[in-house]
Amino acid sequence: MPITTQQLIRFKQEGRAIAALTVWDYALAQILDEAGVDVLLVGDSLGMAILGYDTTLPVTLDEMIHHAKAVRRGTRRALLVADLPFMTYQESVEQAFHSAGRLLKEAGVQAVKLEGGHPTAVTTVARLVEAGIPVMGHVGLTPQSVHQLGYRQQGGSQEAGEKILLQAIALEQAGAFAIVLEHIPSDLACQITQKLMIPTIGIGAGPHCDGQVLVTSDILGLSNRQPPFAKVYANLRETITQAVGKYTAEVRVRSFPDKPPF
Ligand code: KIV
Repeated sequence: MPITTQQLIRFKQEGRAIAALTVWDYALAQILDEAGVDVLLVGDSLGMAILGYDTTLPVTLDEMIHHAKAVRRGTRRALLVADLPFMTYQESVEQAFHSAGRLLKEAGVQAVKLEGGHPTAVTTVARLVEAGIPVMGHVGLTPQSVHQLGYRQQGGSQEAGEKILLQAIALEQAGAFAIVLEHIPSDLACQITQKLMIPTIGIGAGPHCDGQVLVTSDILGLSNRQPPFAKVYANLRETITQAVGKYTAEVRVRSFPDKPPF
């Protein structure tokens, strides 16, 4: 059965941890979906991991829609969420409606994620939810604010931690169905997770969240460098280099193809 936003909330109530990963194309979506990942996120990290940008800021809505459409075609069971990229929702609620609407209508995603827990972001979440668009929040380290925050851990002081907690509560009250907690201290993530009815999905936020998300190119060893909290489960860069090296060598010495095709 396909996963729904309500089901994620039930998973939290049942204490069943939620596994989420980022995704960017059809083939990977099929593999991750069949492997049982609960939430597939077409994250704007694809700007850096896949498109080669320095930050997530250049990613456009059209690029997100292009990738999300391919992912949609490969996804059967997982809940499909896409990021609203930088400056496609901050200008006005109307802009957010337009961008989120395109992701739902054209790409077929079931929910959008947007960064920030300040009052303007909270109002945007409330208006989108009111219009029937499920929204995942994202607080702590928000990469679209890299020029203000860098990629440092957030919420380290009492005051900064309280601010993130209040932002998470405000996003829940605005109707968000889940919240990503990125790169914050584990005890703060634990406190937020206990306080909220909706699930928290951690990335670099310790083991107490209701679920975890990582960037798939990081866990597969495809990235040039991973953040300190990522775990590398496979080294595909090395595997691909070896396979391609072998193929190239065989072509050069004409040992491939080794048999006539017919
Ligand atoms: O874009 C992204 O990859 C994210 C992370 C939280 C996984 O937003």
